[in-house]
Amino acid sequence: MFEGVASEDKDPRKSLHISPVATPELAPDEAYIAVMASSINFNTVWTSIFEPLPTFGFLDRLGKEGQWGARHALPYHVVGSDASGVVLQVGSAVRKWKPGDRVTVHCNYVDDQDPSAHDDSMLADNQRIWGFETNFGGLADLAVVKANQLMPKPTHLSWEEAAVNALCNSTSYRMIVSKNGAAMRQGDKVLVWGASGGLGAYAVQYVLNGGGTPVGVVSSEEKVRLLHELGVEAVIDRKAAGYKFWKDEHTQDESEWRRLGKDIRAAVGEDPGIVFEHPGRQTMGASVFVAARGGMIVTCAATSGYMIEYDNRHLWMKLKTIKGSHFANYREAWAANQTIIDGFVVPPLSAVFPLEETGEAVYEVQHNRHEGKIGVLCLAPREGLGISDHVTRERIGEDRLRIFRPHDEEK
Ligand SMILES: NC(=O)c1ccc[n+]([C@@H]2O[C@H](COP(=O)([O-])OP(=O)(O)OC[C@H]3O[C@@H](n4cnc5c(N)ncnc54)[C@H](OP(=O)(O)O)[C@@H]3O)[C@@H](O)[C@H]2O)c1
Repeated sequence: MFEGVASEDKDPRKSLHISPVATPELAPDEAYIAVMASSINFNTVWTSIFEPLPTFGFLDRLGKEGQWGARHALPYHVVGSDASGVVLQVGSAVRKWKPGDRVTVHCNYVDDQDPSAHDDSMLADNQRIWGFETNFGGLADLAVVKANQLMPKPTHLSWEEAAVNALCNSTSYRMIVSKNGAAMRQGDKVLVWGASGGLGAYAVQYVLNGGGTPVGVVSSEEKVRLLHELGVEAVIDRKAAGYKFWKDEHTQDESEWRRLGKDIRAAVGEDPGIVFEHPGRQTMGASVFVAARGGMIVTCAATSGYMIEYDNRHLWMKLKTIKGSHFANYREAWAANQTIIDGFVVPPLSAVFPLEETGEAVYEVQHNRHEGKIGVLCLAPREGLGISDHVTRERIGEDRLRIFRPHDEEK
């Protein structure tokens, strides 16, 4: 439907729509979830503009994996990789969850009969992201999930506050905290690109909580202010600084990498031992350059282009490492969820849309017009419902829990 249209002009509002679809049969290891709220992740931008690949190919591949896989290969894709909700029904093999349980859902979809899934499940041969590489995702009234995707809902949060965390929070946890990522230590300086975005807003909280110093990069004064409120002192406004890492489409400008490096040193006194990378082509050359000797660039994406170029001399001569990271295994997702339950990490929810306006919400994320995370109300009739632990909420503080909200209301 978007043939010949430039990427930025491919409009998710045209491809995403609401329709009733048949409820698939429940496998023994699965649960039906009544989805109270969900959230927009960048992967739904990719699905809705069919880039870099149409996700129907993923569904067809899953469709070849036996009776239960076959349910996913359909001419429609129920998208969405986050959810908070209530367990409605469980399959015969589910032991730890029951109807009525209030849950959040993480999106690591693994086959527990596959031996390659039994060390770090992100290394499994057929690891998938639910609602992106599988059907029956979270942007719906009803979702179908494996029982090993379930986690307890933080009781002090509303449905929409609880819904936005699992995907980005778990991804940032693995990248910053886990031994599978950068395993940050106290005193580390960490450069975080897109520090008020979906991933970045969690990343900076992990750096602060772990005794590190984040250097957040953002693109507006308002985002700088937001990060200061979150406790991030060193923030670089890349728009105000006007970095031009690329002279033209094919040539990078080392003097601009050097200028960023100087700005980081001026802010925190040394080169960052960890660079939290996801913009990709536009920034990777700079990221490799500014990382400290022996430092690590940990990357999980390439929003601005995945054919990456960097000067390898800066990598090998200074013994740096580039580490690929992707979502999180169940243990990491569970640990990340616990940081939300304990109030160490707050949800960066900035705006809430009704399910019917999912296309609009995805459009906002596609055009970088949002901050933090956008929530979507599914079965929850309005915002603010689902909170059962008011004591914890009061302890964390309404102001802190709503740090990202006033900015939306000001617009
Ligand atoms: N592999 C995984 O498991 C995984 C998980 C989650 C997300 N992702 C991917 O990671 C990427 C980011 O996700 P997100 O949820 O954080 O998205 P997001 O909410 O849109 O935030 C991304 C931030 O990156 C910054 N940015 C965008 N283009 C940039 C550029 N050319 N140069 C420098 N900064 C730029 C923007 O911040 P400023 O404009 O303020 O600088 C933006 O706020 C997406 O591609 C997503 O698909 C991967």
